[in-house]
Amino acid sequence: MTRTYLLGGAAAALALGFFWIASTPDSGGGHSMTPPDTSDMPAGAAIVNVALPSELDEQAAMGQRAFEAVCADCHGQNAAGQNGVAPPLIHKTYEPSHHGDYAFLAAVRNGVRSHHWSFGDMPPIKGLTDADVANIVAYVRAVQRENGID
Ligand code: HEC
Repeated sequence: MTRTYLLGGAAAALALGFFWIASTPDSGGGHSMTPPDTSDMPAGAAIVNVALPSELDEQAAMGQRAFEAVCADCHGQNAAGQNGVAPPLIHKTYEPSHHGDYAFLAAVRNGVRSHHWSFGDMPPIKGLTDADVANIVAYVRAVQRENGID
């Protein structure tokens, strides 16, 4: 009897917890994965303002070149995003604790199903080695840090 009672209590606590998480409003700055509303921005506009670090180490500099050559078509210059095309990677959503370095490799290898934004799917990207992707990650992380995202 006591046991059932306890289990019931635990289930109720869990349900409440889920409800709390689901109903917590997006505060904008917090660890929310709700993307900003970009519906009033022009198509193709950069979604965030990005400050570039004054210096990049060698790996990040190589990553920058690869990024600009391959990813910027969609993710925009300096990974600032392009409205309607692809999200900014310089964004809280992609901080290391939510999208670890492996998420970048998986995105490049397998593509990404649209889930955080409503810009459609990302196709798999061919022609990059694991080392190329590691360089791109080094670049994105350096720019994220410069913009207070880590
Ligand atoms: C054809 C356009 C396009 C290109 C090219 C592209 N992306 Fe994307 N990418 C997208 C879109 C759209 C999304 C957002 C999907 C969503 O709604 O979450 C995305 C999402 C991502 C994500 C988030 C993955 C996740 O788990 O949520 C990463 C990381 C990423 N891209 C990295 C890259 C890198 C690195 C390159 C270059 C090698 C690249 N992308 C090239 C369109 C593109």
